[in-house]
Amino acid sequence: MLGWTKISRSLYSVAPPWANLDISRDCWEWGLEHRTEFYVRAYRYFSTALPKSLVQHRLYFSQDQRGFGEDAFHSLWYQLFINFRPRKVLEIGLYRGQTISLWTLIARQLRLDCAVYGISPLTADGDSASNYLKTIDYEQDIKSHFNHFQLPLPNLCRAYSTDATAHAFITSEAWDWIYIDGNHDYEIAKQDWNHCSAAVKSGGLIIFDDAALYSGYHAPAFAFPGHPGPSRLVQEIDKNQFQEILAIGHNRVFLKK
Ligand SMILES: C[S@@+](CC[C@H](N)C(=O)[O-])C[C@H]1O[C@@H](n2cnc3c(N)ncnc32)[C@H](O)[C@@H]1O
Repeated sequence: MLGWTKISRSLYSVAPPWANLDISRDCWEWGLEHRTEFYVRAYRYFSTALPKSLVQHRLYFSQDQRGFGEDAFHSLWYQLFINFRPRKVLEIGLYRGQTISLWTLIARQLRLDCAVYGISPLTADGDSASNYLKTIDYEQDIKSHFNHFQLPLPNLCRAYSTDATAHAFITSEAWDWIYIDGNHDYEIAKQDWNHCSAAVKSGGLIIFDDAALYSGYHAPAFAFPGHPGPSRLVQEIDKNQFQEILAIGHNRVFLKK
């Protein structure tokens, strides 16, 4: 028997002929006012407009507990790459490498010389929000997924984002964007924000995962609205310094002025 999640997913998959599937930059502002409808657009964009190689990448990471996330987030990253053409990007919290391998794949397809970095303990250690598989060698595992897609290996920093080595690593570069998806407890998310907001370039981005609980977004049954820690933290962002420019589900994108 189909569960409610599957029924909900298939209901949203079928776009009526008049449905607007545009998630290009011209629509981002509208999307901030209509977060739920925009999420559905991004979900449908995934199956109707995203390059097939990126759809295949998502299908691969959807199997065997290889990744978290949602189909619509592949649409988000593709849009960000097309619009910002970043040269140096960082992810905090890697798990099995879905997002950093997607970035590397998109960069290759766009013929973009983009250096991809990640900070993670590369263990099963998590936070109060999640449990991770304990029997994996995470570093080898990430490499195996890069090899599967024949991608150049990423630059990894084995640390917690709160470690001194990670601080030094974050502040050693001027980043085009940083994606924060490590420890979701408020105090840690706040420390991550403080370090990353200083290190990202002017005109660069910080993308917060799991941050839409108090944003007016109503997640469909197959999607996740977020955790209290990041959701609270993003409410405190100084609008004089950072402007929210795009939101797709619980992923929210802030531009440094
Ligand atoms: C939800 S998973 C990340 C999923 C990943 N972004 C992806 O797209 O597949 C969170 C990851 O953050 C790691 N983590 C937990 N606390 C961390 C911290 N303080 N700094 C960096 N990574 C952390 C966990 O071990 C886990 O691998």
